[in-house]
Amino acid sequence: MEEDNPFPVVGYEGPELFCDRVSETARIINAMENKRNITLISLRRMGKTGLIEHALHKLGNKKQVRVFYLDLLPTSTLPEFITLLGNQVLARLEPRREHVLKKITSFFTGIMPTLKYDALSGEPSIEFSMGSAQEIRYTLEQIFAFLNQQEKKIIIALDEFQQITQYPEKNVEALLRSNIQQCNNIQFVFSGSQKSILVAMFTAYAHPFYQSSEILHLDPIGEKEYAAFIAARFKDGHRKITAESILSILRYARRHTWYVQFICNKLYGTQQRDLNEGFIARTLQDILKENETVYYSYRNLLTANQWQLLKAIAKEEQIQMILSADFLSRYKLNSASSVQAALEALITKEMVYFDDMDRYYRVYDLFLSKWLKQGI
Ligand SMILES: Nc1ncnc2c1ncn2[C@@H]1O[C@H](COP(=O)(O)OP(=O)(O)OP(=O)(O)O)[C@@H](O)[C@H]1O
Ligand SMILES: [Mg+2]
Repeated sequence: MEEDNPFPVVGYEGPELFCDRVSETARIINAMENKRNITLISLRRMGKTGLIEHALHKLGNKKQVRVFYLDLLPTSTLPEFITLLGNQVLARLEPRREHVLKKITSFFTGIMPTLKYDALSGEPSIEFSMGSAQEIRYTLEQIFAFLNQQEKKIIIALDEFQQITQYPEKNVEALLRSNIQQCNNIQFVFSGSQKSILVAMFTAYAHPFYQSSEILHLDPIGEKEYAAFIAARFKDGHRKITAESILSILRYARRHTWYVQFICNKLYGTQQRDLNEGFIARTLQDILKENETVYYSYRNLLTANQWQLLKAIAKEEQIQMILSADFLSRYKLNSASSVQAALEALITKEMVYFDDMDRYYRVYDLFLSKWLKQGI
């Protein structure tokens, strides 16, 4: 059998296949050990989930700690959040299931959770009946109280945390904040990619989570570190690739983790052992070609103005003076006001992002950007 591809593009596959992030991992661990919550923010696909899993993996090796990872993206209501918390945390607290059932049901007076087992996997799951807003609040409080009185310290990572701002229930932020505040045995790692929402949640005075967590912005992995890591993985797999080619891949992909991983995964996954420049260039073209139908469907979903602007940004790779007469005339764009409206729509749709440090706009999806750039 072919050996496993050392460049995963989904999930975390252990420390051997994880590059660098030494200082970020240390910061997360230090925050947890010193009872500070931490919030991880980055562009999409920069490696937040991987980093959380990596840090949790290290923390989980310690005897007195239990770690749990929750992805909030699939949740759209507070009861869904509670159910997820119940199933990912409560139900997995202890291996002896009957024991858990007894302990949980005796603790939860009034709300009577039922414990079910999946017929195939035998995995336990917990159901709560939550009708009224009051019941929902009470259930949440009870779960946190139960977790808080565990002997082992508990660490819970809430990935895509900005999702809670989408729940229809009132005062979700305040409700979660007050529960979290009371749990001195539970540490939290929050994370997400919607920077403006998260930054507002944790740094704006009016928000309940104001200053309740330190913030860690995740930047691209350093060029030197990533290049060395990639070279070693290809070498282990007996693939030939030059240091220059690796650098050019990193620069092509702006060191954006998922894209780097994806390109390397593709290169590794062929029969080719000599990954020369020509082969790499063809592979990059193949990737764009494979996505073409998706890109054409975007064109149908956007207005003509939005599509024109998206193309113009891609041609520039990155643009600061987006409303300048020069940029508008170079790409035959309409008035500054219509560009402004199109830009806002593209940002909302996460097709374009604004780098607020260096103050430029870019097409969010790297491969789409490359494809648009080489189009007419
Ligand atoms: N330090 C790393 N070394 C190697 N691979 C990594 C590293 N960080 C992340 N990856 C890989 O890159 C891919 C994307 O990372 P991940 O899913 O963690 O990003 P994310 O920021 O959580 O993305 P999203 O915004 O879509 O949730 C994953 O396959 C992950 O395994
Ligand atoms: Mg993620």
